[in-house]
Amino acid sequence: MVSFRDFIPSSMHGPLRRAIHRGRAVQLTYNDHLLYHKHAAPAGQSINVRNDRALIMYYTHSIEKGLTREDFRPSFGNRPLTALAQLLNRWIDDGRDPRDTFFDAACATLRTYFSRHDDLGVNVGDKLALFAPEVQKLILGSSTAGGFRTVRFDRQRHRSFGELTADRVSLREFEPGPVDLGLISDAASIASRSPSACNRQSSRLHVVTDPGLIDKILRIQAGLGGYDRPPVLLLVTSDTSYYVEATERNQPFVDGALFAMTLMYALEDAGVGTCPLTAMLWPRSEKKVRALLDLPKSEALVTFVAVGRQPALTRVPYSRRESVESIMTLHESGDR
Ligand SMILES: Cc1cc2nc3c(=O)[nH]c(=O)nc-3n(C[C@H](O)[C@H](O)[C@H](O)COP(=O)(O)O)c2cc1C
Repeated sequence: MVSFRDFIPSSMHGPLRRAIHRGRAVQLTYNDHLLYHKHAAPAGQSINVRNDRALIMYYTHSIEKGLTREDFRPSFGNRPLTALAQLLNRWIDDGRDPRDTFFDAACATLRTYFSRHDDLGVNVGDKLALFAPEVQKLILGSSTAGGFRTVRFDRQRHRSFGELTADRVSLREFEPGPVDLGLISDAASIASRSPSACNRQSSRLHVVTDPGLIDKILRIQAGLGGYDRPPVLLLVTSDTSYYVEATERNQPFVDGALFAMTLMYALEDAGVGTCPLTAMLWPRSEKKVRALLDLPKSEALVTFVAVGRQPALTRVPYSRRESVESIMTLHESGDR
């Protein structure tokens, strides 16, 4: 069979292969872009029911977080409440099912929001009035748990994996005091057992303990606004030099995320609190983080993780989960 090798000098084979690979990578990246932009909510503008659900949970989570804070700020949440009112009012206007998990989680969270203000004697009637009368009824009549829950950290007992995963929660307010860095090394050693594509182990862990540096990074990251600085900030990255095919363009994030999850479970097992914090930044912000940490250029940012001591007792967002039936599809053989 005739191949391009027969016509092209061997010195050009490598560059030509790289050029073809680059063309394929551009095509695949464009396909990623199409997938994302056909289905995700561009700039928070919903284009389908699933976008509405995502936005409902997004703003509900913001209210949940406000309800858990030690320094509770009465009447907080103008922006998420206004957005939720639009989304929930439209949901009912469009005749959608109010028993939907996310819609119901929003109502339960809002009921907690309004009853907490009632208990404090703070009038937030203007906020309730944002919601249509039918939605107000669903909020005030909601009987499911929502908003926040109080968790007790008692790490003496041996836990099954199921118990450990149920215990792990994102902590944003930590007990004051430093974290034993030996525990982080031990957790990194456990996380290094995570699977990775062809065992290429591209994940890297940056451990930041310098308070000034943590403050600078968190100001850029902007996902932990209003909370005290955590004693340790981790950044999981993935070295893209370890990937060899255009189809692997997203693999650094998959391998890095598996590493990050194991790391967080290992820290939970050791009685250390964590909160993953997004590292999906706009280029200007990413550039600043790269400069602050002097990151190798080949490393892709996967996620930050705030780390600190677990308090004995704390409030955390309720964080309702979807039912297994709604997330699992069984593809069975027809001939059973
Ligand atoms: C990749 C990733 C990024 C996240 N980024 C943030 C963040 O920037 N700020 C924040 O407060 N929580 C962040 N979270 C935490 C989620 O809000 C939290 O995992 C979710 O609400 C479920 O709650 P749980 O972790 O307590 O079970 C992030 C979680 C993940 C997995």
